[in-house]
Amino acid sequence: MSRMPPMPTIPLSPSHPAYVCPSLPGDAFATDVLEGLARTPKTLPSVWLYDRRGSELFEAITQLDEYYQTRTETALLAECAPALAAAVGPNAVVVEFGSGSSRKTPLLLDALDKPRAYVPVDIADDFLDDAVAVLARRCPGIPMLPVRADFTRPFRLPPQLKDTPGPRLGFFPGSTIGNFAPAQAAAFLAHVGKILGTSRRMIVGVDACKDASILVPAYDDARGVTAEFNLNLFARINRELEGDIPLDAFRHEARYNDAASRIEMHLVAKCTLDVHVLGQPFRFAKGESVHTENSYKYGATEFRALASSAGWDVERVWHDGARRFAVYLLKPANAA
Ligand code: AVI
Repeated sequence: MSRMPPMPTIPLSPSHPAYVCPSLPGDAFATDVLEGLARTPKTLPSVWLYDRRGSELFEAITQLDEYYQTRTETALLAECAPALAAAVGPNAVVVEFGSGSSRKTPLLLDALDKPRAYVPVDIADDFLDDAVAVLARRCPGIPMLPVRADFTRPFRLPPQLKDTPGPRLGFFPGSTIGNFAPAQAAAFLAHVGKILGTSRRMIVGVDACKDASILVPAYDDARGVTAEFNLNLFARINRELEGDIPLDAFRHEARYNDAASRIEMHLVAKCTLDVHVLGQPFRFAKGESVHTENSYKYGATEFRALASSAGWDVERVWHDGARRFAVYLLKPANAA
């Protein structure tokens, strides 16, 4: 019987500064905003909602009564974590895409057998540092290797992992997959498949299709937290891109698009107005909106087909009792 090679050691947390992925372009925000506001209809990519304030507001959203997703998924993960861990096996390197507060991560790390390292990937670096510090205290002994990158664009894993054996387990909870258009979601799943390599698995949290009477309040809550989250995008443009957009001239709107099976967030102009960003003028007609986010909802058949088009098979799926939310464990297509 051959002897196991010695395991490479990764220095222990929390001393790693975030690995800044070389592919993160410095002026991408400006480019996206100038192009998005010049378009008809006006659109802005939802990734820019998450500066520090936006990440804090999203955290507040996850605590709202109307936003059923977080508590449903958390309970589901707590229930299925032992089965997930048994399916994945020991020594996994966990890579979380868009890790945010990493609040659900301990449910997985605690259940896994000797996880080799945790790699949170997030664009909001202040938030990333705080989350890693909290998690390092909560899960001592698991090396933390944060990566500052927009996970929707090509990025690389930290170089320290090159020679670290063990399965690569992608973790994508929170139904963030729904913030991509289906073709982008498939491209993302194919892309992370390449990043994770041959011994890969992937856990994905997916919000299920349901009635608009539940979905619309989840994205337009009574306390106005989601409205503030959406409007913070304009506040960020004003702050970072010399914008002069009057926030009180816009209102937040959540629209259910049944044909596309998605919730849309919009910022709607209350009156005709002219604004500037980086010296460029933009005109809004009364009632014109900037479409800032889509949140797609998937049935099991649709999600299975999406995963399959990206080289993944569904190994197992768990639902809550009301079938509002699902956690999928994916494996490479045609693997035993
Ligand atoms: C991060 N993402 C999964 C949230 C969602 O439900 O689409 C973002 C969000 N937007 C408004 N509320 C929550």
